[in-house]
Amino acid sequence: MRRDHVLPTPEDTRALGAALAAVVGPGDLVVLTGPLGAGKTALTQGLGAALGVTEPVTSPTFVIARVHRGGRLPLVHVDAYRLASVADVDDLDLDASTEESVTVVEWGAGLVERLADEHLEVRLDRRDDDVRTAVLVPHGPGWEQRLTGHPARAPAPHGSVTASVAAVSVPAAPPAAPRVEVVALSGPVFAALADGDLAAANAAAPVPLPPSFADPEWAPVWRVRAQQVAADPGAAGWVTGVVWDPDRRLAVGRAGFHGPPDARGTVEIGYAVVPEHQRRGYARAALAALVDRARREPGVRVVRVSIAPSNAASRAVALPFGFREVGEEVDEVDGVEIVYELDL
Ligand SMILES: Nc1ncnc2c1ncn2[C@@H]1O[C@H](COP(=O)(O)OP(=O)(O)O)[C@@H](O)[C@H]1O
Ligand SMILES: [Mg+2]
Repeated sequence: MRRDHVLPTPEDTRALGAALAAVVGPGDLVVLTGPLGAGKTALTQGLGAALGVTEPVTSPTFVIARVHRGGRLPLVHVDAYRLASVADVDDLDLDASTEESVTVVEWGAGLVERLADEHLEVRLDRRDDDVRTAVLVPHGPGWEQRLTGHPARAPAPHGSVTASVAAVSVPAAPPAAPRVEVVALSGPVFAALADGDLAAANAAAPVPLPPSFADPEWAPVWRVRAQQVAADPGAAGWVTGVVWDPDRRLAVGRAGFHGPPDARGTVEIGYAVVPEHQRRGYARAALAALVDRARREPGVRVVRVSIAPSNAASRAVALPFGFREVGEEVDEVDGVEIVYELDL
């Protein structure tokens, strides 16, 4: 296959994608780099169509990864262009095994260096005359051979490709979802945590709390909860509790509602996973626990969550639950946030 391509029209870009479809196999990773508008999505469309995917392959705004089935191979399409950092991809819980699929990552230039191992890079660019160009850059001996055509197409070396995928933290298989319980805390625990006094908090807490709970970054949350529960002791059962993993016997984060349901039956969700326990599916498990709880509460009809527009990882966790965008609000601390609601 030629390395350098000049692509005057979108059709040419799609045709290059279709040509790539003929050489990809299960477990392959294709990384598309280049600026916005360079044709990364167009190329993925051509690749998907040639694999036999019939549904449209689009550049999703709210979903950073999609699995397209129905073709010769599942196509995992990751749009990482809008992500601020590689770490943001970490919360992706893809409902497909990358070992069985071809994974295409649309990546902003400059982020791809993280991908060390075997993969095909397609460098797309847009010239001043609006014509697109593409350069195929093989990373690893398997891709080198496949592009030169000899020897006959080697099967993808699974280990190294999986390692490349792990480097962008797209899990190789859906991780087993951890079990979590949300354990309520009391006024004295909130007050101690607000003061950063972990020992006093642990003297009163129902489960052992690690030092990150007393981190100054979390103090404002505890302060609000302490005041809330002092004014309305019944709120303790609704507001921020401990995300507890009963199998590991570990407090892995905090999660809860902002308060009891309002007159409309709305509760707003908030949660955070302590950094060392991120990327294990705890955010999703905590959200599931809160949504389940809300469903069981007769007074709750709507669950609300607010997510910063830049926080693609949180959106990817929340949207599969069926949350829909209802508006925007300005949070004093976090700035503009998009508000999502789920009707129960
Ligand atoms: N070779 C090409 N020549 C001209 N326009 C193209 C070409 N390839 C794609 N486009 C157009 O550029 C726009 C952006 O392409 P897209 O694939 O969404 O870019 P990216 O995913 O890299 O941001 C689309 O309207 C697409 O039709
Ligand atoms: Mg795109």
